[in-house]
Amino acid sequence: METHGMKENSFFLWGAATSSHQVEGHNDKNDWWSFEQAGRVGTSSGAACNQYELYRDDINLISSLGHNAHRFSLEWSRLEPREGEWDEAAFRHYADMLSDLRQKGIEPVVTLHHFSNPQWFSDRGGWAASGNHRFFSRYARKAVQAFGSQVRFWNTINEPVVYLYHGFCTGLWPPGHKSFSEAAVVFRHLLYAHVDAYHEIHKHYESVLKTPVWVSIAKHMSVFTPCNPMRLRDRWLTFLRDWFFNHLYLQALTTGFLFFPGLFCEFLSAKSTLDFIGLNYYTRHFVTGGGAGPTPLGADCDEKHHEGQSPEVNAMGWEVYPQGFYQVLMSLRKYRLPVIVCENGICANEDEQRQRFIRNHLGAFANAARDGLEVWGFFYWSLLDNFEWADGFKPRFGLVEVDYQSQKRTPRDSAHVLAEICRKWTQSNHRYHS
Ligand code: GAL
Repeated sequence: METHGMKENSFFLWGAATSSHQVEGHNDKNDWWSFEQAGRVGTSSGAACNQYELYRDDINLISSLGHNAHRFSLEWSRLEPREGEWDEAAFRHYADMLSDLRQKGIEPVVTLHHFSNPQWFSDRGGWAASGNHRFFSRYARKAVQAFGSQVRFWNTINEPVVYLYHGFCTGLWPPGHKSFSEAAVVFRHLLYAHVDAYHEIHKHYESVLKTPVWVSIAKHMSVFTPCNPMRLRDRWLTFLRDWFFNHLYLQALTTGFLFFPGLFCEFLSAKSTLDFIGLNYYTRHFVTGGGAGPTPLGADCDEKHHEGQSPEVNAMGWEVYPQGFYQVLMSLRKYRLPVIVCENGICANEDEQRQRFIRNHLGAFANAARDGLEVWGFFYWSLLDNFEWADGFKPRFGLVEVDYQSQKRTPRDSAHVLAEICRKWTQSNHRYHS
């Protein structure tokens, strides 16, 4: 089996994921904060989980839950609060977090961009403005110089398509625009940003650190099913959505070409700029040609239930569909790259539902591994209940319950369910060397 340079170290990374704006609190130099203050979403992130102050306690918690890895993001707006000005204290903060994780034998997986942008970057036109991706490359370079010796796994951009969909198609997230043509421009700029950051990271490891590194994006994928499989239009739009949302980026970053009906673009510098695939999976969507969707790629069905749809939904109404996890994982085989699940989880009001979700999804994951997919890790979303973007604090995704008044953390039983399954997995399938 292809080992992508990891021959001598057999890994299975497991743990949970978070992102800076969702847990840190008081990220008042970014565009999400401004969006919240302008009343564009119902709830402000405020102190969130106050992790910027409580990170040592949270790392102790991660360690006590037995995780051997942790995925989190750096907050660009803290590291570079004003254009070209770097905040030493923020650099020290993340360096401290990383060394604390390492001392406890926890492998960090670090994301550079998880939906939030510095306000100064947005003021300059953000991702829609030509040339702005260079600011991101400069930030990536700084981050890798500062933290490279502590990090072996990087995610450049979390869910680029989800980001541009909500930021530029539905308008639900900052900058709150609704323009498909602008979204197409952002699509390209995010792609360039990843490619530049990928090369910046590799250059540093090859010339300075001389140690291996693995870089990817975290790619959100859903299962798409036609509302009416007998309707040709529904089937065609389902195919397009699957192509556009799930595969276009991966295709460009693996082959350097982007095939889309009617389009054929070259991004040769993007070829082979994924060392593994970071996958985020939650649910499936039913697609129809009727109704006006926020993109020309078809709308979700209006009807509530469809033949074959699982009756179970999460607290935000998303279908719980573990079979889809297997399907999506297996659809990645063609890229011939190892897969790390960077996010998979549920917001649930009852922890029993979360426990069932974890068992069933890890079952699907194990089946994909049995059927030949090379898997390197699994991160549950999320470690803590946290600020769920436009949905505020109501959805509870955490393995650990957060009381937002007192900031008290209480691990749920599902945290132990995850630990038990992953420990067995590491013992029977993979050996982990820290
Ligand atoms: C992902 C996102 C996370 C989290 C999660 C649950 O798309 O990366 O930040 O919000 O969804 O909705």
